[in-house]
Amino acid sequence: MSSKTPWLTLLLALPALANVITGVPDPAPPGFEQWVSPVITPAPPVVGTGDWASAVARARKFVAGLTLEEKINVTTGIDIVGPCVGNTGAIPRLGWDGLCLQDSPLGVRIADLVSAFPAGINAAATWDVDLIEARGRAMGAEFRGKGVNVALGPMTNMGRQAAAGRNWEGFGADPFLSGVATVATINGIQKNGVVATVKHFIANEQEHFRGGSEASQIYSSNIDDKTFHELYLWPFAEAVRAGVGAVMCAYNKINQTQACQNSKIINGVLKEELGFMGFIMSDWAAMIDGVQPALAGLDMNMPGFFAYGRGPQNETDPANAVNGWWGAHLGEMVRNGSVPEARVDDMVIRTFAAYYKMGQDKGFPPMGIRANANVNVQADHFKLIRKIGAASTVLLKNTGNALPLRVKNLKRIAIVGSDAGPNPDGANGCGDRGCDQGTLAMGWGSGTANFPYLVDPLSAISTHIESIDPTATIGAVLNDFNLNAVRTVASTADACLVFVNADSGEGYITVGDNKGDRTNITLWHGGEALIGATAAVCANTVVVQHTVGPVTMEGWIDHPNVTAVLHAGLPGQESGNALVDVLFADGPQATNPSGRLPYTIAKARGDYPADILYVSGDGTPQLTYDEGLGIDYRWFDSKNIAPRFEFGFGLSYTTFGYSGLTTTKTHHRREADAIAKASSTTATSTTASSTKTSSTASGSAAPSTQSVESSLSASDSVIAASASTTVAVSSLSASASANATGTVSAPSAGSTPVGELGGPAALYEPILSVSFRVQNTGHVAGSEVSQLYLSFPEGYGEPPKVLRGFARTLLQRGQSKTVTIPLRVKDVSVWDVVSQKWVVPKGTFTVQVGGSSRVLPLTGTFTM
Ligand SMILES: *[C@@H]1O[C@H](CO)[C@@H](O)[C@H](O)[C@H]1NC(C)=O
Ligand SMILES: *[C@@H]1O[C@H](CO)[C@@H](O)[C@H](O)[C@H]1NC(C)=O
Ligand SMILES: *[C@@H]1O[C@H](CO)[C@@H](O)[C@H](O)[C@H]1NC(C)=O
Ligand SMILES: *[C@@H]1O[C@H](CO)[C@@H](O)[C@H](O)[C@H]1NC(C)=O
Ligand SMILES: *[C@@H]1O[C@H](CO)[C@@H](O)[C@H](O)[C@H]1NC(C)=O
Ligand SMILES: *[C@@H]1O[C@H](CO)[C@@H](O)[C@H](O)[C@H]1NC(C)=O
Ligand SMILES: *[C@@H]1O[C@H](CO)[C@@H](O)[C@H](O)[C@H]1NC(C)=O
Repeated sequence: MSSKTPWLTLLLALPALANVITGVPDPAPPGFEQWVSPVITPAPPVVGTGDWASAVARARKFVAGLTLEEKINVTTGIDIVGPCVGNTGAIPRLGWDGLCLQDSPLGVRIADLVSAFPAGINAAATWDVDLIEARGRAMGAEFRGKGVNVALGPMTNMGRQAAAGRNWEGFGADPFLSGVATVATINGIQKNGVVATVKHFIANEQEHFRGGSEASQIYSSNIDDKTFHELYLWPFAEAVRAGVGAVMCAYNKINQTQACQNSKIINGVLKEELGFMGFIMSDWAAMIDGVQPALAGLDMNMPGFFAYGRGPQNETDPANAVNGWWGAHLGEMVRNGSVPEARVDDMVIRTFAAYYKMGQDKGFPPMGIRANANVNVQADHFKLIRKIGAASTVLLKNTGNALPLRVKNLKRIAIVGSDAGPNPDGANGCGDRGCDQGTLAMGWGSGTANFPYLVDPLSAISTHIESIDPTATIGAVLNDFNLNAVRTVASTADACLVFVNADSGEGYITVGDNKGDRTNITLWHGGEALIGATAAVCANTVVVQHTVGPVTMEGWIDHPNVTAVLHAGLPGQESGNALVDVLFADGPQATNPSGRLPYTIAKARGDYPADILYVSGDGTPQLTYDEGLGIDYRWFDSKNIAPRFEFGFGLSYTTFGYSGLTTTKTHHRREADAIAKASSTTATSTTASSTKTSSTASGSAAPSTQSVESSLSASDSVIAASASTTVAVSSLSASASANATGTVSAPSAGSTPVGELGGPAALYEPILSVSFRVQNTGHVAGSEVSQLYLSFPEGYGEPPKVLRGFARTLLQRGQSKTVTIPLRVKDVSVWDVVSQKWVVPKGTFTVQVGGSSRVLPLTGTFTM
C-alpha cells in the first residue's frame, strides 16, 4: 500500500496532469453503478521481446527519424477515397506509400479477380484445423496479391445471441473452438506476410445500437470480469499469443466506456495483461473523441473522418485533415500537452513493428487494390473452397440412409425453392450482398467479397445428374410461393430437394425488416410452407438449408416424409458443387459429411439465454450479460433444456465407436512449475516498467514490485482460496449485482507491467494428455470429430462442461486409431478475479469424450 503513496502524491500535486493521465470512468445510469470500466493509464509502450524483438527494434529506429506530421500520417486514415477501404497517410520523403487496409474475413472485398470463400461460421463447422489454416493461407495470398497490407479479419465474436446479424462472420458460440479457428486463420493469413486483424474488440454482439458514425445510441455490454476473461477475451488472447499484427476495437461500449477509448480493455488487458505488440485500430468511424482514445491506447484512427459523409477537408494529407478526431488535431493535442508525443511514437512503432514482422519492407506488391486491379489472385483456390464447403456441411437427419442419393434410383427429381437457383439480379446484384435472392452463400455487410461466380445448387445438381443419366427428369420450381407448381413436380418425384434459407448481416443495410440482426430465427420467404407442401406429397423429401445461424425447425423436422436435412451454412462461390459432393457422394470429390454445428439449434427462440435488444430510448442501452458463462450449450446443459440439435452435433454416412480413455499428466514436475510460473508472471516483466515514459516510471514501478512479492509468496494460497471467491462472483453475475470484483472504485491509475504474449507463457504449456480409441464401425470411410469436454471441480462457478479439445480423424471402414488430445495449463484453469490470474482449481475434474456435446460415451477423471 505504502508503495503507492508517492504515485498518488504526484497526481495530487499536479491536478491538471492527473486528470489527463488518469481520467474519470464514464458514469453509469442508476441501477448499473457497478458496470463501469476503471481507467488504466498510462498506455504501456511496446516491449519488443521474443520473435517481435527485431521488428520492434527496427520500428523504433525508423520512427525516431520521423517528424511529428509524418508520424501523425501513419496514425490517421485518409478517408475511404483511397485505394482501399482504409488507408493510412504516406511518408513521401522516404518513399513510403502508406498501408492499405481491406475487408473482409472471407476474402478481398470490393475487388474482382478474387475468390469468395466460405464464411467463418462454415470454417468453424469443419472442426478441421488444417482446412481452416489452408483457408487463411489462400485468403492471405489473395490479399497480398491485391496489395493489401492489413487484412480486416478474422472476426471472432461469440454469437451470444442467436439472431445477431454478424455471427456468421465468426466461428460460433464457444471460446475454445473460436480460439482454435482464430489462430489457424491468423497463421494462414500471416504466412503470406499480410497483417491479420482480429476483431471486434470486444463484446460486439449485436447490430442494433452498436454505435459508430456519430450514432446517437451506443449500447454498453456489461460483463463481469470472470466471464470477460473465460469467454469473450479467450479467442483474442489466443490471437495475441499467435502473433496477430493488428486488433480492431469495436463500435460498442463495454461497461459504459466506448471500446476504442476504454483504457481498461486496451491499456489494461490487451497491452499489459496480454502483452500485445502490434497496433490497434478503430472500427470505421467508431471514435467518439480524440484525446481519450489516444490515452486509452488506440494506435490508429480509421478511416480518418468523424463520420460517414463528414470526411476530411484535406483528404490528401491526414496530418492536415481537420474533419477527423486525429490528423491535425492529434498534432494540437501533442502541442497543448493533452497527449504525450511518446504516445504518438508508440502508435507508430507498433504499426511498423507489425509491418516489419511481416517483412512488408521487402518485395511486397504495390500498395492497394487499384494498383493491382488486373491481377488475378484466385489461383486454384476454388478447389479448397469446394472442399471446405463440403466439409462444413452438417448432416442433421438421415432416416433410413436416405442420403447419399443414388442417381440410378432417380428417374424424377424435384428441386424447389428460390435458394436452389441464381439471384435474378446476378450473384453480386445487391451491393454488399444486401438482399436475399437466389441461393444464399454469404451474409450481407462489410464482411463480404464479390463472387467471381456462384455455382448454384440447381445447376450443379442438374449437371451431375445429367452426366450419369441424361434421361432423368428434373422438375425445378424456384418460386417459393407457387405451391401448386411445387405439388405438381413433387408428387411424382422419387426425391424432392427443398432449398430454404435465412439471412442476416451488418446493421447499415436493412433487408426486409432485418436491420442487420434477424427479427426472427425462422426460415425466410415461406420456407416452412414450402417444406410442408413438398413433404405432404413426396415421401422422400430432403431439406437443404443455407442459413447464417440456427433456425427453429420444430414445425417440420419430425415430418416422416422429411427423410434428410443438410445444414449447409454459407459455403461461398462453390456452393452447388460442394453440395453435390455430399448429396451424392459418388464423384471424384465424394464427401462423407463430417461437419458439426458450431452452435446449438434450439427448439424455441426463448430457450437461448440472451436475445437482441431491439427497442430502447436510452442513449446508452444497457446489455447486461446476466447469463455470465452460460451461453449456448453451457446454458442448455445447466438449465436442462433439450435442444433440437446440440452444439457439436452432426451425422455421417458411417458410424463410430469409442473406447479406452486414458488421461496422462504430461509432466508431473512441469505442472507445479507451470502453475508457479503462471502465478508469478509479473515477475518476468518488471523490466518493462522501466521503459515507460519518465513521468510515470516511478509510479508504475512501485506497485509492480508489490504485486511480484505478493504473488510469489501467496501463489499457493491464491490457488487454494480461489474457490470461494469465484463462487461469489458467479452467483453475483447471475443476479447482475456484482460488486465483489473490486475494480469499480475510480479513478484508478493501476498500470501493471506488460506481460508475455497472450498472458503468461506457462499457461500455454501442456499439462495433460487425453487418449482414446475411435473406430469406424460402419460401411464407408469417414471422418469423426471427437470432442473433449471438461467439467471443473465444484465451487468454481463453471458451467456443467466446457469444450477444451477436439480432433478430426479420417477412418477407413473398420479402421480404428488412437487419438490424443493435449490440454494446456490454461485449458484446466479458471480466471480468479481477486488475484487477477488464471489458476488451476484444486479437486477432481471430469473429462468426457465423444461425437457431440451430448453424446459422450467416454468419461474419466483426474485430480489437480
Ligand atoms: C465491468 O464491470 C464488472 C462489474 O463491476 C467488472 O467485473 C468487470 O471487470 C468490468 N470490466 C471492464 C472491462 O471494465
Ligand atoms: C501524408 O500523406 C499524404 C498522402 O496520403 C501525403 O500527400 C502527405 O505529404 C503526407 N504528409 C507528410 C507530412 O509526409
Ligand atoms: C492541405 O494540405 C496541404 C499539404 O500539407 C496544405 O498545403 C494545404 O494548405 C492543406 N489544405 C487545407 C484546406 O487545409
Ligand atoms: C488540445 O487540443 C485538442 C485538439 O484540438 C482539443 O480537443 C483539446 O481540447 C485541447 N486541450 C487543451 C487542454 O487545450
Ligand atoms: C422471419 O423473417 C423473415 C425475413 O424478414 C420473413 O420472411 C419471415 O416471414 C419471418 N417469419 C415469421 C414467422 O414472421
Ligand atoms: C408422405 O408422402 C406420401 C406421398 O408419397 C403421402 O401420401 C403422405 O400423406 C405423406 N405423409 C404425410 C405425413 O404428409
Ligand atoms: C457491496 O455489497 C455488499 C453486500 O454484498 C454491500 O454491503 C456493500 O455496500 C456493497 N458495496 C458497494 C460499493 O456497492
